[in-house]
Amino acid sequence: MPQKETHAAEDSNDLKPGSGILNKAFLSDVLEGLHHPQKTLPSKYFYDDKGSELFRSIMALPEYYLTRAEMDIFRNKTTELIATLSLDKSKDYNLVELGPGDGTKTEHLLKELLAQGYTYDYLPIDISQHALNGLVNMLAETVPALTVKPLQGDYFIKLGTIRSDQRPKVVLVLGSNIGNLSDQEAAAFIDQLSANLNPGDKILLGVDLVKPQAIVLPAYSDAQGVTAAFNLNLLDRINRELGGNFDRSQFEHLATYEESEGVARSYLVSKTEQTVTIYGQAFHFDAGESIHMEISRKYNDTVINEILSNTGIHIQSRIMDSRQFFADYVLVRS
Ligand code: AVJ
Repeated sequence: MPQKETHAAEDSNDLKPGSGILNKAFLSDVLEGLHHPQKTLPSKYFYDDKGSELFRSIMALPEYYLTRAEMDIFRNKTTELIATLSLDKSKDYNLVELGPGDGTKTEHLLKELLAQGYTYDYLPIDISQHALNGLVNMLAETVPALTVKPLQGDYFIKLGTIRSDQRPKVVLVLGSNIGNLSDQEAAAFIDQLSANLNPGDKILLGVDLVKPQAIVLPAYSDAQGVTAAFNLNLLDRINRELGGNFDRSQFEHLATYEESEGVARSYLVSKTEQTVTIYGQAFHFDAGESIHMEISRKYNDTVINEILSNTGIHIQSRIMDSRQFFADYVLVRS
């Protein structure tokens, strides 16, 4: 996922309980964010072990339509999806995926590509070796004919190592993972991706579409409070890894979304006036003062074209789920 921290939980720079090793990037990002007039914490740090587990619960929530919508495309529109990609059967591709997760969506595409006689290797890139191992084992069972070449590490470092491989690339960036980035950050991400591609290479970019508040807002303020727990978990992580003393019972989760803007935002709001100390630094909260936690951008052609301007990447086509909630855009490097 583009938004994830580059140092995963298994990285040696991370603080393990009692290890005495401090994740300095985490510390400086947290302190920096809390010094802003609008306090903010970076959502890329949500995904420790507990956070990853909570995100898996979010994907199963009745209100969280995103994962099921993209799954509808991969499961029920696989033939159309492949037609939309418009690949050349005489070529041998590298199918790269950035942040594959458990691969349940991709599995449908991988199987159907093989069934239709396309030749390719599958190169999932993830920061988590644990996630890659699970994926490799799953695919060995479900798609035994597939050649899988897992790459553990930073997306762009790993893409750099296959830069000289002359096979054309298709790069999957699914799940609206790009949505946690501002449009400016998304443009920089696409630009960096573009720099690692050759003319004619393609990107399949999965994004959640702009739609009414009545659909989007519940996805970020679910009735069971899993999204609230997902946000509050970062406070626990700060306490554990950075010596903080947040009292999570003193914060309340709040989500906002206006269709005219197309950006969902999550906040943790202080219930009382309080002071929180992190790594010896004190931060004062007024009652009702918020910490901005995350944005989840919603897209349409206009937003995508704005992000793509000056990146050398263009929209080729797109495919939507049956309810038109979600789109996978086929982008081409010129
Ligand atoms: C992983 C970025 C797609 O923004 O919808 C889910 C993360 N945050 N619920 C999203 C998330 C709160 C999710 N993405």
